[in-house]
Amino acid sequence: MAGTSQATGVAARVVAANVLDGVLHHGRSLKAGLGVALPALPDPRDRALVEAICFAALRIRHRADAALAAWIPSPLPKRDAPLRALLLAGFAQLDPLGLPAHAALAATVDAARAMGRAHQAKLVNALLRRAQRDGLPEGDWRDLWPSWLRGRLRSDWPDAVDAIVAGSANQAPTWLRVNRLRGTRDGYRQRLLDAGIAATAPGGFEDALLIEGSLPVAQLPGFGEGDVSVQDGSAQQVADTLALPAGARVLDACAAPGGKAAHLLERDPTLRLVALDVDPARLRKVGDNFARLHVGAQATLHAADAVDADGWWDGEPFDAILLDAPCSATGIIRRQPDVLLHRRERDLDALVLVQASLLDALWPLLRPGGTLAYVTCSILDAENAAQASAFLARTPDAEALPLGEAYGRPAGPGRQRLPGEQACDGFFYTIFRRGVDDARVT
Ligand SMILES: C[S@@+](CC[C@H](N)C(=O)[O-])C[C@H]1O[C@@H](n2cnc3c(N)ncnc32)[C@H](O)[C@@H]1O
Repeated sequence: MAGTSQATGVAARVVAANVLDGVLHHGRSLKAGLGVALPALPDPRDRALVEAICFAALRIRHRADAALAAWIPSPLPKRDAPLRALLLAGFAQLDPLGLPAHAALAATVDAARAMGRAHQAKLVNALLRRAQRDGLPEGDWRDLWPSWLRGRLRSDWPDAVDAIVAGSANQAPTWLRVNRLRGTRDGYRQRLLDAGIAATAPGGFEDALLIEGSLPVAQLPGFGEGDVSVQDGSAQQVADTLALPAGARVLDACAAPGGKAAHLLERDPTLRLVALDVDPARLRKVGDNFARLHVGAQATLHAADAVDADGWWDGEPFDAILLDAPCSATGIIRRQPDVLLHRRERDLDALVLVQASLLDALWPLLRPGGTLAYVTCSILDAENAAQASAFLARTPDAEALPLGEAYGRPAGPGRQRLPGEQACDGFFYTIFRRGVDDARVT
C-alpha cells in the first residue's frame, strides 16, 4: 500500500510537470491541460495535488526563475523545458504549498527519473535542497504581468495597480451557491459543519457560502445531487441585476458552462430560458449542469453564434438578455494565472470587437422596456466602461440603469469590482434598458 501511494505520488509530480510544460512552453491553457490530465489520475488526492502544484507553480514562476538564474551556471536549454517545469513543480511544493519536504523531494526526484531524466535527478535533488535550505528569492508580483497589461492597469486604475496585482496573486477562496430549490443556505451551512467544513454566509450574497482555500467538489455534501455549486460571489451577483417577473422570457447569449443561467432558474424555475453558446462541447456542459441541479427541463439550448440571430431566433422578443461576454479574463487571474502568460494585446482588440458586435446584434431582440445585462470578468476599461459607453452613444433607445455600490466602484455607466474586493473575482456589471428610440419617433 505504501509502495502504491509513493508510486502515485511520483505519477502526480510527472503529471504536474507535463501540465506545466504545456502551459509554460507550448501556449496551452491551464484549464485545458488540467482538463485532459486530471481524469487520467484515479486517486482524487493525486488530482487535488496536481491542481494545487500547478496553480502554486504559476504563482511563483518569477521567484523560481530568479532562483534558477542564480543557482545554475548557465540557463537551461530549450530541450530542458520539461525539467524547468518539474523544478517549478518541486519548488511550489515547498513554498507556498509547504508539503513535507522529504516526501516532496523524493517524489520529485523520482519523477525526473520517470520522465527519462535520470541523468538530471541529482541536479533536481540539489536545487530542491537549496530551495529548502535558503528559500526562493523574494520577487515582485508585478514581474508576472506582461508589460502591455501593466500599462493598461496604470492607465485604467492608476490608484489601484498594487491592489489589483495583490488581489490577483492570492489563492481564491471557495464560493458556494446553494441551490434554493433543494434547501436553505443555513441548512446547507449546517450540513457543511456536520462534514467538518466551516463556512461563512457573506452579507449581500443571498445564496452564497464562503470557505477558505480550495476544496474538491467531491467533499461537498450533496454536490452530485445538485444541492450546491461552486461559483464566485461576483458571478452570483449577476442574478441580482436582473429583476425578472415570473415566466419572463430570458436569453443567456453566452451561457456555457451554465453557472449564471442555472442560478436564474434556481431562483425562478418559471423563467422561459433560451441558452446559447457558440461552442457545442461547452453547451453540452450547460445541459449537464442543468440536469445535476434539477433545473431547465423546459429551457431551449442552441449551439449557435449569438451574433447571427437568423440562425437561431424564433422572432419572439426577450424580456431580458444576459450577455456574459467573452473577455480577457483579467478579473480572474487568481483562478486562471496562465492569463498572464498567454493573453496578448491583440487578443484584447479582437475581444472588444466581438463584444461590440454581440451587443449590437442582441439589442434588437429585446422588447421595449426590457433589460440587457452586459457583464464581464475583465478589469480593463476597453471591455467595460468604454465598451458600455460606446454602446450607449450609438444606441439611441438604450439607457443605463443605476447599480448600487454592492457591485463595486462606479465605472462609466456600470460598476466594477476589482480582484479580491469582498473576497470576489474582478467583475464588471452594466444594465441597459431598452426605451423608445427618439430617432425613430421623430
Ligand atoms: C464568460 S463565458 C460564459 C460563462 C457563463 N455565462 C456561465 O456563467 O457559466 C463566455 C462564453 O461565451 C461563448 N461565446 C463566445 N462567443 C460567442 C458567440 N458569438 N455566440 C455565443 N456564444 C459565444 C464562449 O464559448 C463562452 O462559453
